[in-house]
Amino acid sequence: MTPSSQNARAKKAVIPAAGMGTRFLPATKAMPKEMLPVVDMPAIQYVVAEAKAAGLDDVLMVTGRSKRALEDHFDRVPALEHTLELKGDFGKLDKIHEATNLGNIHFVRQNDALGLGHAVLCAKQHVGRDPFAVLLGDDLINEKDDLLERMIDVQQEKGGSVIALMEVPRENISAYGVAEVSAVDDNPGDVVRVTGLVEKPDVDLAPSNLAVIGRYVLSPAVFDVLERTEPGRGNEIQLTDALQVLAEGEGDGFGVHAVVFSGKRYDTGDKLSYLQAVIELACDRDDLGPGLRPWLKEFSAAL
Ligand code: G1P
Repeated sequence: MTPSSQNARAKKAVIPAAGMGTRFLPATKAMPKEMLPVVDMPAIQYVVAEAKAAGLDDVLMVTGRSKRALEDHFDRVPALEHTLELKGDFGKLDKIHEATNLGNIHFVRQNDALGLGHAVLCAKQHVGRDPFAVLLGDDLINEKDDLLERMIDVQQEKGGSVIALMEVPRENISAYGVAEVSAVDDNPGDVVRVTGLVEKPDVDLAPSNLAVIGRYVLSPAVFDVLERTEPGRGNEIQLTDALQVLAEGEGDGFGVHAVVFSGKRYDTGDKLSYLQAVIELACDRDDLGPGLRPWLKEFSAAL
């Protein structure tokens, strides 16, 4: 890996969205989990908006069976727009345009649920030979934290791939990919070199309490590695396993760095974290916060 200011900047985002959402049954029996509303916007729209805010307006969603609602959500609805225009309800019209003005959104199907690594591999043809971002739909990053933009900058500077890490309590570490890291001399701050990665290790075998969170800026070299990656944890083709190969190898496209994130992240695939996201984001909103905050105080005082 030769660090160079000439490295191409990531411009495309890949969002794997083929998972079945069994943790939210029965709500997700007939509706994709990505469409669950966080306040009044589907979770997936936050993620696409985050990609756009980081300068990625070419988005590829990797979907599966029963995900039609995702395509519909980012498509125009002329009849609804016409009705709102006639009523002069331009506020609501703006709201629905927000979903259709988020850049170019493309879809590809993952025909077999073979794991996250396999979902990313489905993006190979669309992505081509430039670095690209992967955003996991279950992870919500507060819009005030420009994590993805920072990761894109670091990838452009260092080359190779960049992942996001977050410290989590040791007892929760087995729910994540876990990294072994070393310091980088030229950039002490929030950037580290990743020397090893393991997907969902047992607590005693975890190399650290630094968990991989769902934002990646990857070298296209990952595709060649994924093509050779055998099923790992859970008998699935794991992105973490391919990144481990990139972390320990040398040469063009190899090498993995990480941005250690200390901002706000919610896992909307987890019920408790989902509820916290809804409450915190609603509290921050000008239209809902003033009503919700005093009620919340009263409610919690009575608990
Ligand atoms: C995936 C990754 C894991 C990562 C996690 C972050 O796991 O495989 O390495 O830590 O996302 O949310 P999943 O939660 O999809 O099982």
